[in-house]
Amino acid sequence: MLRFDVLTLFPGMFAPVLAHSMLKRGQDKGLLTVKVHNVRDFTADRHKVVDDMPYGGGAGMVMKAEPILLAVAAIRQEAQAVGEDIRLIFPTPQGRRFTQDYAQQLAGERRRIVILCGHYEGVDERVRMTLVPEEVSLGDYVLTGGELPALVLIDAAARLVPGVLGDPSSVVDESFSEPLLEYPQYTRPAEIAGVGVPDVLLSGHHEAIRVWRRKEALRNTYVRRPDLLTGRMLTREDQQLLNELMSEGLLTAPTSCREEE
Ligand code: ADE
Repeated sequence: MLRFDVLTLFPGMFAPVLAHSMLKRGQDKGLLTVKVHNVRDFTADRHKVVDDMPYGGGAGMVMKAEPILLAVAAIRQEAQAVGEDIRLIFPTPQGRRFTQDYAQQLAGERRRIVILCGHYEGVDERVRMTLVPEEVSLGDYVLTGGELPALVLIDAAARLVPGVLGDPSSVVDESFSEPLLEYPQYTRPAEIAGVGVPDVLLSGHHEAIRVWRRKEALRNTYVRRPDLLTGRMLTREDQQLLNELMSEGLLTAPTSCREEE
């Protein structure tokens, strides 16, 4: 059972996402639990204040440390009461980059994963200093808070828990676990606006289909993300498929080269 505890000022952002698709299925099957806690419930004052003006001045508000510290302490205590431990994660653009490997590691986590969602202009630095959370970034852009990143972490990890997706092979064969990008997929009808489906996919020839897909995955990877191929040991088959693509002249220049033109 993969267990997340989310600490947020906006608990309402989670239920709609968790109520659909694979995240719903994971919870229904008892493979995933997500408990959402409102940081405001951990304030001690009458007005339930969760943010305040920054010392030194400047724009925006800063999330206060005390409610967060109290909330994490409560979750830790609850976990320890049943012999469990917690792993604290703080989504922030300053963190280490979130990757498929990181998602894989979360999926296998036995501790309760506590995700602290920041908001406003930031969180009082003493939260970092006292709790020393793992800081994780989704990429070099700034979101309004940690809620969407938290959902991304949960989604990416949950789908790797055996049984959450219907077909276990769909996890193995896809982009980034491999790591090659995906081959193109088609479904009915066989023709749309004059555009058909590659004959081989209609042939029923399993081996030919496998080879075609491998070749297209290599093409896609070479064209869009050549960095995923550099320094990588290629199987004899992959080498041959790449050679074929080269000699067919079907490989456009890698995107990174094109940008330099
Ligand atoms: N919070 C705000 N922006 C973020 C980002 N890019 N990644 C993770 N957490 C964030």
